[in-house]
Amino acid sequence: MAVNIERDNGVAIVTMSRPEALNAFNTEQLKALRAAVDEVAADRSIRCAILTGEGRAFAAGADIKEMAAKSAQEALAFGNLGHGIGIAINEAPQPWIAAVNGHALGGGCEIALACDIRLASETATLGQPEVGLGILPGWGATQRLTRLVGPGIASELIFTGRRLKAAEAKMLGLVNDVYPADALMNKAREMAAAIAANSPTAVSASKRMIALAYDGALAQGLAREAETFALSFGTADQREGMAAFVEKRPAAFTGETD
Ligand code: CAA
Repeated sequence: MAVNIERDNGVAIVTMSRPEALNAFNTEQLKALRAAVDEVAADRSIRCAILTGEGRAFAAGADIKEMAAKSAQEALAFGNLGHGIGIAINEAPQPWIAAVNGHALGGGCEIALACDIRLASETATLGQPEVGLGILPGWGATQRLTRLVGPGIASELIFTGRRLKAAEAKMLGLVNDVYPADALMNKAREMAAAIAANSPTAVSASKRMIALAYDGALAQGLAREAETFALSFGTADQREGMAAFVEKRPAAFTGETD
């Protein structure tokens, strides 16, 4: 039971590894994932992270066996552990790509929803089956799924608990793209490498601005974007990026702040 981090050229591959339980999250596994997210967020050499699962699941949700006996008070603490991970992913400076390699159900789908981008294998299934267990989604689906696919589709998926195959998830905008199982990680690595080659300061600032589009009023978001756009000028990455264009050479970004 663990969460492993592999570093490769500015990209972190974070693998949830509890395959005997389809990577279901018990308290220990939640704490391990939170520690991994915090470790990645604090590492300035990492410019993009990929989250995936070992074996045939991304994550089959919160551990139902552990949850079964919880009181409301205990469920609040358990729920907050999962929410904390989603918020830490949202607040991390790097983009997170969920490489959904198999089942992403309940809390597993919600952790994927907290990532910035979702890619899936043809064998993936996604869904929010919680109402079938007498509970509701507890790690963000009522909010993040609704923002991603709209209230009509989110309501259908949450109220029915229907599990989607990857192709339908793509059609609904829940995942960006679907690949054969053996191609998924290479595609995720390619996307992460493309992100990692760009200015980390500009990518991080873009992530913060995208989050605003999601959270606040449009006018406020546009005003914040205008300020943040202006502040990206005069940075080392802006000088390098534009000089490289003019000199017709690839840019070498450092992310250094002056
Ligand atoms: N919690 C605890 N154990 C789980 C689990 C979960 N969410 N999902 C799978 N497992 C365990 C199974 O109990 C089984 O262990 P044992 O062999 O010890 O019994 C092992 O993983 C393999 O699972 P299956 O034998 O069930 O595998 P399968 O291929 O037949 O089915 C599956 C796969 C369709 C994903 C099925 O396991 C399943 O439906 N899992 C539950 C999915 C679910 O309801 N998730 C939502 C949880 S609630 C939640 O997440 C709340 C929240 O919002 C925070």
